[in-house]
Parts: sequence; structure tokens; C-alpha cells
Amino acid sequence: MNLLHEVRALFEPVLKSIVPDLGRLPEYTGMVKSVADAKNGDYQANFAMPLAKVLNRKPQELAQAIIDQLGANDLLESAVVAGPGFINLKLKSRWLAARLQIIAREERLGVAQVAAPKMFVIDLSGPNVAKPLHVGHLRSTVIGDSLVRILRFLGHTVVGDNHLGDWGTQFGILLYGYKNHLDAAAYVADPVRELARIYLLIRQLAKAANDDDEGTGEVMEACRRETAKLHAGDPENNRLWNEYMPACLEMLRPIYARLGVQIDHALGESFYNPMLPGIVEDLLAKGVAVESNGAVVVPNAKGVVPKESGEQSKEEPPALIRKRDGAFTYTTTDLATIRYRMETWKPDVLLYVVDARQALHFKTLFANARRWGYAGVEFQHVQFGSILGQDKRPLKTRDGGTIELDSLLDEAVARATKKYEDNCTERRERGQDVPEMSAPDKAKLASIVGIGAVKYADLSNHRSTDYIFDFDKMLATEGNTATYMQYAYARCRAIFRKGDVDVSEFRKNPPAVLLVEPAERNLALQLLKFEETLDGAATDYVPHYIAAYLWDLAKALSTFYEACPVLTATTPELKSSRLLLVDLTSRMIQKALDLLGIQTVERM
Ligand code: ARG
Repeated sequence: MNLLHEVRALFEPVLKSIVPDLGRLPEYTGMVKSVADAKNGDYQANFAMPLAKVLNRKPQELAQAIIDQLGANDLLESAVVAGPGFINLKLKSRWLAARLQIIAREERLGVAQVAAPKMFVIDLSGPNVAKPLHVGHLRSTVIGDSLVRILRFLGHTVVGDNHLGDWGTQFGILLYGYKNHLDAAAYVADPVRELARIYLLIRQLAKAANDDDEGTGEVMEACRRETAKLHAGDPENNRLWNEYMPACLEMLRPIYARLGVQIDHALGESFYNPMLPGIVEDLLAKGVAVESNGAVVVPNAKGVVPKESGEQSKEEPPALIRKRDGAFTYTTTDLATIRYRMETWKPDVLLYVVDARQALHFKTLFANARRWGYAGVEFQHVQFGSILGQDKRPLKTRDGGTIELDSLLDEAVARATKKYEDNCTERRERGQDVPEMSAPDKAKLASIVGIGAVKYADLSNHRSTDYIFDFDKMLATEGNTATYMQYAYARCRAIFRKGDVDVSEFRKNPPAVLLVEPAERNLALQLLKFEETLDGAATDYVPHYIAAYLWDLAKALSTFYEACPVLTATTPELKSSRLLLVDLTSRMIQKALDLLGIQTVERM
């Protein structure tokens, strides 16, 4: 149950009777918001001020009149006018307590499935294969995966599709390298490793010659010729492409496994290649595309065809879909992809979790797809910013190279291991009895903590901003980190072990909840805000709302611990009630982390 919606619903009848333009009703009910500072109540309604203006009344008076008209209800303890016309709302503790007892029984922790499930296709990860995954692919992968989890949990149908770059320049590099620098024995023994070596070798050769992707140097020129031959259907290059592909996909597999990310489909660019001529023909036939100087373009909204002189609008540039030499483009493939997805899955929403630097591409693409006939579907570019180094520039290795994702995760895990060992040593020095963990357990813990830290650091930032990658910060045991949340979870579980309480019985027949201390009530309220958090995250496609929720929950838990003894509570009823709060909190933390793709451990 979405608590915020319940509170808003209380006001709806009153607002309906006074709002002159009912079309704006949702705007006004939307002005009921959760409150950060408890002294202003639990929620606050801010619609009296703007509404007073429209109705030409005094805001405070109007606020009071609205309060007076609120019907009888079980939810509100009080509603009082504050300041210029705010309405501070406080919920009944009894209601909160009863609700917690109910949700303690539920696997879904009180979160309802959406009434009208939608069909989503989420385009995520999308690395260019044939080279090791680098840090640039982290965000699309983890943000996309989290959105898949959130939307599915809410009851939507979601298809995740990995739009692999498996048809581009990087294959030209492999083909050239294979033909000129192959270590045949190494290739037979371990094709994955040999292809990765070839790829890096050619990159190094090109770099040494100051030759890059657009470069005109000998090496890249030769690579581009190989790509062109591949695209033109050259049998040898196509045979090799088919031979390389399994190895290329094999390079990706372990890293997705490490990240705990499963993507339903991996229909790469090559999959759409045979469809491209038909796409261009269809766009021409429908009058969406036109021929221009031997090329085919989709003019922009204003109908401007690109001139050689570049009479292009920055807003929405015309899209080239077949070059003069017959080659198709990234856009052509993306249009084919849209048609395929629409026909295959009939989605209501298409999400593209892709770097913000492709904003213009997607804006144009969506506009063109609508003109092509896909007007009834919601297209969203779920864009994200860059990962920066300490120097606030895109994260690079010391010598300026791209950082491989695998080695980044290795370092996170190594640091997590070291932290754990230092912590054990320190506690032993303080005279505590710290049992030695088995090596496999320790490795598992370090991986859950290290990789969780990397993911959380990413997902706790608003996706559209850049963030600075900082191992020390992300692995800190205090503050808004995965490690802190994982500790908070383990600490809750430790209480149950210590108290020797049978959790399953406890969940089957939850005890009555007593909200005596303010810290108890505050924790209870926080627990009940889970669904509104998820709804917000799903509406705006922003996983960081969940991280912010976790941070508030963890703070509420810590205040609760300070004020409320659990196992030594003064009465058995109070002890049971507090155990229920602790259990529910741990389950909420676990579920929220799970929706971010992060695991928990029972002991740390
Ligand atoms: N492979 C692309 C890149 O690395 C990302 C693909 C994004 N998805 C799409 N449908 N264009 O830039």
C-alpha cells in the first residue's frame, strides 16, 4: 500500500469540491509530500497557497476550511495549519502499528502489484563486444538491471535486451589482427584470451602510430577495410566473424555473472543487419525518408534536408540512414530494432539506458519512430552521466587507458578483503573473540561487499549526474554505502541469533506492535514508506530513490537502537514488538538492496 497515495486520497473529495479546473486536480493532490523534519508532522499538504490564489481567498483560512471538511478516517491523528498555509499532517500511531503487523506476514512487505501492469522493453548494457568490458559499461548495466528488478517487482512485464555492438569497427580490428598477428597455437588453446590479446595489440600499434578510430593511419585504415568487407558479405570475413562470436560472448559472460546481472536477450546489431535494406525501403515508401545526394535521410521535424554546407538544426538533426556508399548507420539499426521490438513484444514503454552523450541521437530517433507510425508507445532515454576519477575527468588508468571493468571489480574485492581482515585483527586486539571464517566464506563475503560497494556508489547518485569514483568512500562502514547497509542488515540478524528467536514462527504470527518511543514510531513510519519510494523510482526511472530510502531507514534504525533496548526491553510485549521492527527493517533492507542488485550476508 502506497501510504502517500492514501494520504492524498483523503484530500481528494474536498479538493474535488473546490478546485475550479478539475484537470489540475492531480497537480494539487501531488502537493501532499513526505516531510523530512518530524517536527512538521509526517506529511505536509502545500496546495492551500496556490489554490487560495486561484480562488482569491486567504491561504490560512482556506487551509483550515479544507481541514474542517476532511471526513472521518482512521489514518490521521491531526491536521494543523502552519506558516503561510501549510497543512502539517500526523498519522495515528495505532494505525501505523496495525499496518506493520499486517505487512510482517507478507512476502512482498506490503507492496502492492500495480493495478495496470505495462509491458516494458529495457535496452541495457549494450557493450561493443570483441573487447573487454570497460568501466564505461558499468552504469548502463547496473542502472538497467535495477530498473528491470524494480519494475518486475511492482508487477510489470519486463524484457531486458542487450543491444550488443557486435557488427562494428572492433571486428575489423580483430580481423586485421587475426590475419597479421595471430599466435595460432594460443588461439586453438584459448580463443577468448588470444582474441583479447590481438585486440589490445592492434590498439597499441595504432596508438603508437597516433592512429585512432577516425584516424587515417595505416593500421586503422586496414582495420576499416576489413570491417567494410565484413559488411559487404565477404565470405572469409563472415566466416571468421561467426567463429569469433562465441568467444566474444564468452568474454562477457563471467563479468555479468560477477555483477549478478542476467539479461533476457542479447540481440546485437548483427541480428538486425539483414533487415536494414527493408527498413530503408519502408521509410522511403511511407515518405518518412527521402533521397538526398545519393544518400537516404529522414529530414528533421522542420523538413530540413542536410546540405553539404550543414544547414542543420541543433535541435533535431536530420538522420542519415543510408550513406552514399550504401552503408547503413547506427540509426538505421536502431529503427530496425524498434520495429522488431514492437512486433515481437508489443511494449507500452521502451527504455534506453544509455550514456547522456547520446541524447541527441535518441531524441531524433524517437521523433523519427513516431513519424514512422510508432506514436502510441512511450520512448524514454534513461540517460546517465559519467564516472569521473579523483581529478574530475573521465576515469582512466594511470597511463590514460580505459579501465577494464573486471580489474576494477578485482580491486574492489581485494580492498573489501583487506578491510575485513584489518577489522578482525583490530577486534582481536581489543580482546574480542572473532572466529576465523573459512576461505571460501571469506571470498564470498568480500565479493558481496566489494561488488555491492561499486554498484551502490553508482546507484545512490542521481543517474543523470557525473560522480567521482572513490574506493575509500564507497567501502566506508559509515555513511550512505552498501557496506553500511549490509552491516545494518547483519546486525539485525545477529539480534535474532543472540535472542534465539524462531523467525519463521515470528513472521507467521506477528506480535502486536507498540510504538512507545519517538524513535520506534519514526522507524515504523519509515518502514511504511517503502512502496511510495518504489513507485517514485519506477515513475522517474531513478534507482537512487531506493538508496536514499535505505539511508533514511538505516538512520532511523540506528536512532532506534540507541533509544530502545530490544532483547532487554522492559516487558515481553515490548520485546516482541521491537523484534518485529528489527525483523521488518532487515527484510526491507534486504529487499531494497536486492532491487539495486546487491546481496546481503547473515554475518559480517
Ligand atoms: N553499443 C552502443 C555504445 O556502446 C550502445 C547501444 C545502446 N543501445 C541502442 N539501442 N542504441 O555506444
